[in-house]
Amino acid sequence: MPAHDASAVEQRLDSGLLGYWYVVAKSVDVKLGVPLSVKALGIDLVLWRGDDGTVRCLEDYCPHRGARLSFGRVSGPDISCRYHGVTLNGAGVVVSVPGMAQCALEGRSAVRSFPVQEHVDGVFVYFASVKNPNPPELVLPKELSDSEYTSFLCTAPWDCNYRYVLDNLVDPMHGIFLHADTFTLGRGVKQDTVEIVEKESGFIVKRVAQQDVNFDWSEIVVEGPVMFGRVIIPYPPAAGPGGAMFVIPIVTPINETSCRIFFWRTRHVADPIAREAWRFLFRASLEKRHWYVLEQDREMLERMPTTARHRESLYQHDLGVSRLRRIMYRKAVEQLETEAASSARVAV
Ligand code: FES
Ligand SMILES: [Fe+2]
Repeated sequence: MPAHDASAVEQRLDSGLLGYWYVVAKSVDVKLGVPLSVKALGIDLVLWRGDDGTVRCLEDYCPHRGARLSFGRVSGPDISCRYHGVTLNGAGVVVSVPGMAQCALEGRSAVRSFPVQEHVDGVFVYFASVKNPNPPELVLPKELSDSEYTSFLCTAPWDCNYRYVLDNLVDPMHGIFLHADTFTLGRGVKQDTVEIVEKESGFIVKRVAQQDVNFDWSEIVVEGPVMFGRVIIPYPPAAGPGGAMFVIPIVTPINETSCRIFFWRTRHVADPIAREAWRFLFRASLEKRHWYVLEQDREMLERMPTTARHRESLYQHDLGVSRLRRIMYRKAVEQLETEAASSARVAV
């Protein structure tokens, strides 16, 4: 693909970069024996938890005549289409065609399957790229993998392209304006500049004149098996044990105009009693406040026109936004070039 084919690059960016693990559902929403339909990166998927408790994921499409597998039945570890009973395993191989003896479909790898892992209440699915067809080890940030942290996973569908959510994440200056009336986010000075701290895995964008007062910096990790953010919210003593709260957001594109956010709220509370106190406090009062903040972001982003990024006047505070866009653009170009080179090799 020539590097100047900007519309293909935009399309790839709009639908989602490949070669990452994305979260597609909360674990609790994949109930034993009940198929779940989800959409991610423009692909209809079916998730199901087999009788062994393992979650599997296929394209939501029966290879016989195209019925939705999510409308089917879980059958042991496998899934059966409701229409004529064709049964597939988690690798997308047809294991039985009950209506027809020795059917040629049996044993055929007929539907695309996706690697699945469950961690900290989330169901992660790997979307392969040509460069990385096999899933890399899913290494999660310490706030989600260290047992001294405790977290809550909030999720919601948002009617905007996922890139607006990422832009919002690397824009710490919006906090003091958009969230000025909230629990902690209205504190501090309104005028500031921002700076970037480069990291191997991505970058941090932070306010220059203010630290540890508010939502004063955010980090984005783009180099690795999963793209995620990190935000720190300093908490007053009234917010219970554990010091600052970390937010670890992952945004999964659904299609070009919608996405699903997965935000872990996490605190470092090693002591079991303090941990229970924090969990109780979160459920009893803080959770409502978090949703209030998230709703402010959602309403703002959903109301922006889908073409807004083509008609902007960025200023100094948008350093993070432009840095992230450059990184993602480069990744999209690389992916399309690798795909073009690979299909050219196949054609030869
Ligand atoms: S369409 Fe699924 S079994 Fe026929
Ligand atoms: Fe926000």
